[in-house]
Amino acid sequence: MKKSIIKSTGMFVPPNLITNHDLEKILDTSDEWIKQRTGIEQRYWIEQNMATGSSDLGFEASKIALANAGWTAQDLDFIIFATLSPDIMFPGSGCLLQAKLGLDSTPALDIRQQCTGFLYGLTTADAYIKSGLAGKILLVGAEVHSSGLDKTTRGRDVTVIFGDGAAALCIEGVETKKDAGLLSSVLHADGNLAHALMTELPASRLPVRFPADIPFDDPRYFPVMDGPAIFKKAVRMLPKVIKESLEKAQITLDEIDLIIPHQANMRINQALGQFLKLDDHKIFHNIQKYGNTTAASIPIALHEAMEQGRIGKSGDIVLFTGLGAGLTWGSLIYKFL
Ligand code: UT7
Repeated sequence: MKKSIIKSTGMFVPPNLITNHDLEKILDTSDEWIKQRTGIEQRYWIEQNMATGSSDLGFEASKIALANAGWTAQDLDFIIFATLSPDIMFPGSGCLLQAKLGLDSTPALDIRQQCTGFLYGLTTADAYIKSGLAGKILLVGAEVHSSGLDKTTRGRDVTVIFGDGAAALCIEGVETKKDAGLLSSVLHADGNLAHALMTELPASRLPVRFPADIPFDDPRYFPVMDGPAIFKKAVRMLPKVIKESLEKAQITLDEIDLIIPHQANMRINQALGQFLKLDDHKIFHNIQKYGNTTAASIPIALHEAMEQGRIGKSGDIVLFTGLGAGLTWGSLIYKFL
């Protein structure tokens, strides 16, 4: 059976740098609060009033990943696009990206799993490769949060966290006897906690999708989050799911060279390290630079970790993990060929 091998990565963030001090000017917050509670120092947002969707950011990241793989878009036989901020209600951003890549028949699938979009996406890519349905896959995680945030003090707990960005992976099915590729994947979801992090409107479940009696600054048009509840859930569930994925792969934590967690809050990831009794250098952090880019956060971190030489040599083992809206959470273990 073929193994799913990461051939290359690429990432892109828009050029508009927003520091914590910039946010102090538009809502009641402080650089000190944001750094202390989240570890975030800055994030990138698209230029306001520019027509930039998540497929545009994904396109930039994809061009880099394709060039790094030595592939052209025509080589692809499947596209997976993970986002919670699609360009439009439908069709999905995967189709929009496919057209931007100059393609007109390559299948494209959108994944709406928010912070675990990359975990669900890589698992899906692996299943397509192992079943023989696809051989060369482009997996993209991309978000434009900034055009949908409540940029008033009312929304400050969420608004200071999110950043825009994208990353892409070229994944190839390779025939090899070597122990490599996705060693295990464990995914979970609990829809009973959907309300803990959601954007409720527009809603197809309402008789009228844009109700005339609800003004456009209603909080339901913006992401709302029960931050402390999600924080506690993440600290409790991530060690458990990591253990499940280690058992499934039949390896120990000592054999993991680097953990790349979803970048939701530096304190969550530090707590995870303490719980697992890991040296901090075994956990990758870059939330300080980009904030929480949701579906893009783990692949952006992977791209940077590989560029920095922290991971990527033959035989290196990386563990990806995260928890977010849905709720959804999971842990994947990947070994480089
Ligand atoms: O990626 C998706 C998954 N999401 C997560 O994993 C996020 C998990 N949760 C978190 O990261 C944290 O809960 C937050 C960073 C969102 C919030 O941090 P917290 O330490 O849990 O703060 P809190 O919500 O308990 O609020 C503490 C105080 C409140 O004021 P009072 O009631 O104590 O007077 C908030 O109003 O901090 C206030 N506050 C702020 N103050 C300044 C909330 N947001 C801000 C802000 N600036 N941006």
